[in-house]
Amino acid sequence: METIERRDTPRGELVLRRDEQTDRYEIISNGTFLMDTSDGRSERLLVTEALAAVDGPRRLLIGGLGVGFSLAQAVADGRLTEITVLEREPVVLEWQHAHLSRFSDGALADPRVTVLVDDLVRWLHADAPAGRYDAICLDIDNGPQWTVVPGNAELYDVAGLTAVRSALAPGGALAVWSAAAVPAFEATLGELFFDVRVLPVEVARGEPDVVYLARRAT
Ligand SMILES: C[S@@+](CC[C@H](N)C(=O)[O-])C[C@H]1O[C@@H](n2cnc3c(N)ncnc32)[C@H](O)[C@@H]1O
Repeated sequence: METIERRDTPRGELVLRRDEQTDRYEIISNGTFLMDTSDGRSERLLVTEALAAVDGPRRLLIGGLGVGFSLAQAVADGRLTEITVLEREPVVLEWQHAHLSRFSDGALADPRVTVLVDDLVRWLHADAPAGRYDAICLDIDNGPQWTVVPGNAELYDVAGLTAVRSALAPGGALAVWSAAAVPAFEATLGELFFDVRVLPVEVARGEPDVVYLARRAT
């Protein structure tokens, strides 16, 4: 593996690496694998399922840019008029422009896309517009029980999910990515949303990835 760039941030170290043999990139956060470019099925499913759950979606919020698989899926949907991405790390945006734009199909150039460089958890509690989004797709961690920084755990508790629900339009759909099933998280979703569904996505090795789906009441 070749290290393309190593960057210190206030939250720790982020590293972009590339396997020259396979042309696969990966992002490492504080020594922990965050994601790579080898698959992308579950990241795309996160978006297709959320958009399929609502009639005529127009406004989508995506939490976490990563390598841009989810964003690529979003811009492919011609019904969307507004796609907002919350990404906390400026260097992830730099890497998207410099190395990773083919994985997002160059989505940052799409005029419907706005990237806000901010902490999603902070923004949801303080600045998110109420009732705006027809769908919200969240993929900022390896899952509710495996967060990249301790503060991200606040996204998945009752207060965090209540803030997410407030940003959804009535009837809007939430999708949350996880590297494993988390029954306690499913139960919390059930307290705040309806039509909770759990979609496993088989992976080459180990436990399936999971996409959680839920709807805000109308
Ligand atoms: C697993 S990647 C996202 C993958 C993305 N779905 C894709 O298709 O490439 C997680 C992203 O969330 C970002 N992130 C982590 N914590 C965040 C937070 N609190 N607010 C905003 N972005 C965050 C990371 O910097 C990283 O870019």
